[in-house]
Amino acid sequence: MTPARKRLGVNIDHVATLRQARRGQVPEPAAAASIAEHSGADGITVHLREDRRHIQDRDLEVLKRVVTTRINLEMAATDEITRIACSLMPHSCTLVPEKREEITTEGGLDVLGNREAINRTAERLKKAGIVVSMFIDPELPQVRASRQAGADAIEIHTGTFCEAFAAGKHEAELAKIRAAAAFGASLGLKVFAGHGLDVRNIVPILEIAAIEEFNIGHSIIARAVFLGLPAAVKEIADLIHHGGGHSSPQWEDTPSLRPGSEPGMSPPGRGVPRG
Ligand code: PXP
Repeated sequence: MTPARKRLGVNIDHVATLRQARRGQVPEPAAAASIAEHSGADGITVHLREDRRHIQDRDLEVLKRVVTTRINLEMAATDEITRIACSLMPHSCTLVPEKREEITTEGGLDVLGNREAINRTAERLKKAGIVVSMFIDPELPQVRASRQAGADAIEIHTGTFCEAFAAGKHEAELAKIRAAAAFGASLGLKVFAGHGLDVRNIVPILEIAAIEEFNIGHSIIARAVFLGLPAAVKEIADLIHHGGGHSSPQWEDTPSLRPGSEPGMSPPGRGVPRG
């Protein structure tokens, strides 16, 4: 049987972060969404944070009109954001933990410890017809709790794996992801993955058959600074869709722009700089 085609969701929060640095009009996240779709993205992911530090309410309205693939809205399980989600009607919502002081989402959602709020939110979203995903660490009790809380899908937090990959010893973390993915699939959940993924560390994760979708933001926007957004999206979309067999000729003559060779990058295990 041919394995199912894996999907790339491009997280465009960092485009909004750049715009909010000047509180101006550019760069426009919806334009980035269109370019990402034309370059191979299967969906667009945005996180409407309670503090509105990057994506704004207006962005969601524009994206809803512009996006032709799928919108995945990352959100905290709060009344305000649930109300917004139910009126926006994205394809899916991914429930994530949120702390005001964090730089980015740190760790997965504690579904076990917050069953009531998560259950209530999942119920409201599902009733509206939205697919519900839960962003969790690769821990079997959290996978089981997500199923019990009504999730249609889990997104496995790959952050710890990515750190281990950078340190050159990722086998144990990879095994955890493999086990969580297999367990999730055995419970009938769709299995996604995200956080910290890039063109190099995604390679072993791509071998996990149960994982069907990847949500990736920071590494794509960081690569886009050097390559441009179309090439940065295409590069990782090709990897996900074809296992890396279709390299773009755009940077073949520029060794410093080959994946993992930009200024400041070093091979795994030799202290990849952290941004
Ligand atoms: N998935 C989820 C649930 C996230 O919260 C994030 C970060 O916003 C991502 C994926 C993307 O992570 P990164 O920007 O490190 O690729």
